[in-house]
Amino acid sequence: MNDREERYKLLVSQLSALLEGEHDSMPVLANTAAALYDAFKERFLWTGFYMVSGGELVLGPFQGPVACMHITRGKGVCGTCWAEGRTIIVPDVNEFHGHIACSSESRSEIVVPVRKKGVVTGVIDIDSQSFGAFDATDAHYLEQIADIVARQLYD
Ligand code: SME
Repeated sequence: MNDREERYKLLVSQLSALLEGEHDSMPVLANTAAALYDAFKERFLWTGFYMVSGGELVLGPFQGPVACMHITRGKGVCGTCWAEGRTIIVPDVNEFHGHIACSSESRSEIVVPVRKKGVVTGVIDIDSQSFGAFDATDAHYLEQIADIVARQLYD
């Protein structure tokens, strides 16, 4: 197991314990964004949430530079993840048609749906200052983290 996998496994168990019993959305999302950033800050430029609200994605708790606040369904990487209900890995943001550039420093991105009973209710969005920062390992563990978040938010 490589260092990245070890860090993700530790993060998954820490978050499960930390969020146990907490069902208020703000602390769940805020601490998850902070824990993700803290675990990988040399690799992650921005970690946070966009949540479905009023028929669009609205900026939630995050760590990193200020970001756009509203995203339409089907627009950008986040809106596409919501519309298609699947994890999207973008190795080079310049190659993703319609990418929404919140920071000029962002080079690659991963967006993972947060689902309850099959319905996407938000997304985890992570940007990196390096090209090709994300792969199937990130997707695997971030999907586990999205499940933990969904379980806490909507029980
Ligand atoms: N790049 C995203 C917008 C959000 S920022 O990266 C924080 C997108 O294309 O949806």
